Amino acid sequence: MTGEALIVLDNVNKYFGPLHVLQDVTLSVDRGEVVVVIGPSGSGKSTLCRAINRLEPINSGTITFDGQELPAEGRALARLRSEVGMVFQSFNLFAHKTILQNVMLGPVKVRREKSAAVRERAMSLLERVGIANQAEKYPAQLSGGQQQRVAIARALAMQPKAMLFDEPTSALDPEMVGEVLDVMTSLARDGMTMVVVTHEMGFARHAANRVVFMADGQLVEQARPEEFFANPRSDRAKDFLSKILTH
Ligand SMILES: Nc1ncnc2c1ncn2[C@@H]1O[C@H](COP(=O)(O)OP(=O)(O)OP(=O)(O)O)[C@@H](O)[C@H]1O
Ligand SMILES: [Mg+2]
Repeated sequence: MTGEALIVLDNVNKYFGPLHVLQDVTLSVDRGEVVVVIGPSGSGKSTLCRAINRLEPINSGTITFDGQELPAEGRALARLRSEVGMVFQSFNLFAHKTILQNVMLGPVKVRREKSAAVRERAMSLLERVGIANQAEKYPAQLSGGQQQRVAIARALAMQPKAMLFDEPTSALDPEMVGEVLDVMTSLARDGMTMVVVTHEMGFARHAANRVVFMADGQLVEQARPEEFFANPRSDRAKDFLSKILTH
């Protein structure tokens, strides 16, 4: 961590009709920091992630990324999206393209980079996530854990300044969760700025610099993981932890 803010949300409010899903959310994520967001279903975690790369517009407050307020549209928005990689629960790979083509697509089509250079980068990313030997296969030929690692490589191929993960392991069979978390942990150790929504408390404990607990659209508390897990302050966090940790 550098102590320099990369993502800053200041008094952000977001409504879906009458539903106030983000309530005065203020949060700053430093370059190189790993923030894990936890909280009950419906608390606004996905909306928070989606607001950061403007998949969801906000109603008031400001969000800045790397010193600039999020652009509303056009080229600036496209650039922002490429600077903030996003990995969802569902992998959303193109079924009729090979693994390598999936990873190369963004840089070649969106950034118009030369395909030889992109191919090299894509192969080294596939190497990094441990599936270089699957490069010529199609998504359906890979396991869920492998497909999610491809999705991570695809996001990294755009050379993002930050990565957002929204429950990246929730759709996986249990035996595949570890291989995806390992890739995320190594990314964190390499200094990637990350916002991670997850129910994997092991990951939160050993990879996060900070845990943020959300409930009912509010950022209820935040602390270093060791402090948060040993000593949650709010009743809602205590209640949440007692439910997930006894399962
Ligand atoms: N497009 C939408 N239109 C209307 N309401 C929405 C929309 N997306 C989310 N919501 C509502 O906003 C609230 C926050 O949703 P969000 O998906 O951010 O929660 P979450 O914390 O990610 O939950 P989960 O843990 O189940 O993924 C919920 O009440 C949800 O029903
Ligand atoms: Mg969600």
